Amino acid sequence: MNRKNFINAQELFSYAQGVLEKSIEKSLKGKEFCDIALLGGNTAKEFFPYIKKIDFELLKKVRWFFSDERCVLLDSPDSNAGQAQRLLLDPLGINQDQFFPPYNQEKDAQKAALAYEQVLKNLLVKNEKQIPVFDLIFLGMGADGHFASLFPQSELVKNFNKNPRLIEVYKSFKINHTRLTMMPRLIEAAKEIMLLAVGNEKVRIINQVELGEDEKDFKYPVKILTAQDNITFLCV
Ligand code: 6PG
Repeated sequence: MNRKNFINAQELFSYAQGVLEKSIEKSLKGKEFCDIALLGGNTAKEFFPYIKKIDFELLKKVRWFFSDERCVLLDSPDSNAGQAQRLLLDPLGINQDQFFPPYNQEKDAQKAALAYEQVLKNLLVKNEKQIPVFDLIFLGMGADGHFASLFPQSELVKNFNKNPRLIEVYKSFKINHTRLTMMPRLIEAAKEIMLLAVGNEKVRIINQVELGEDEKDFKYPVKILTAQDNITFLCV
């Protein structure tokens, strides 16, 4: 894993903005579109104004996907894709054909997960293992060490290595909605991953997993990502 520490959130988001800009420029040298997965939650809302600063001539060539989603309609205040649509993509005038929400009108979460996997397989370049490759994936993390919707002690986390799925469904009485989440095998295939950790509690967890202090059964799911050399943890 790589790590960068910042003096304040503004510096972190500005850096992430630069990474996105460079990823778009680099990918457009070989492809028509740059394939990006955005994070959800509140950190995303703080990041969006920095994305808006990027030249629209670059942003209009991005296809926007999501690393996880709540199984709610897009117009729900709880929708990660709906939040991005309202706060980032619609204000920018991004073409709806380049907006790929994981969930909207579907009723069945499993069908939605399989359908999203197919969208990714149809649209994205695939690696030698036939796994779709994002140019850049942004992840958030929770104060419990989850990333995307891979939560501590969940079966999805405990058995992630045996699970062939790229997108999975997560249900728990502990969270407010059924979720769809990218699985590690899809995330790890990306050219580049930026995990945005804003807040002392999240950074404390990264410090612990970096030191290998939590070898126990994935107390902090974010530990899964530390073996990757294509991920950078942005910490403040
Ligand atoms: C979600 C997110 C989730 C989020 C973290 C951090 O659907 O909630 O995808 O993984 O990124 O929970 O959330 P905050 O940025 O709100 O702390």
